[in-house]
Amino acid sequence: MLNEKLQQAINKQINAELHSSYLYYSMCAYLQNNGLSGFAHWTKIQAQEELTHANKFFDYVNERGGRVTLTAIEAVPTEFDGVLAVFKQIKQHEELVSELINNLMDVALSVNDHATKSFLQWFIDEQVEEEANVQAILDNLKLINGEGHGMLLLDRELMTRVFVDATQTGA
Ligand code: FEO
Repeated sequence: MLNEKLQQAINKQINAELHSSYLYYSMCAYLQNNGLSGFAHWTKIQAQEELTHANKFFDYVNERGGRVTLTAIEAVPTEFDGVLAVFKQIKQHEELVSELINNLMDVALSVNDHATKSFLQWFIDEQVEEEANVQAILDNLKLINGEGHGMLLLDRELMTRVFVDATQTGA
């Protein structure tokens, strides 16, 4: 059985993951509308990944005999100030998510729940990867100053991203 405080914290995280997905879909809509199909594609896959994160928490609460409660998802911006601003915001957003996961781990440790600690380790590792992935794109964007032929190449490269449900494969 899940500790009540921990259950509440995980439910909040389910909301945060769904909110992340909503944010990435909004970015995708903006990028698509600005003719950046590859960047848009990358954010759409990111949105799909966030749904798998929410799902992993959802299943875990049920597996532990807890109760999932879904609450309102905070509105997301619909306008952005160019592709560089979008990716800076993604970096900030993923840093915030890493902090949320760390806080969740603190709650699990405070109630001595070793099963949840083990479960959360996947997310700790995943966040390292997420931050690194977006930082690499940001670095490229800065290098080409968001302009010219480099943008076309980067847009094409991001189009090749393939959706993988890492929560199922353990990848
Ligand atoms: Fe679910 Fe991007 O972290």
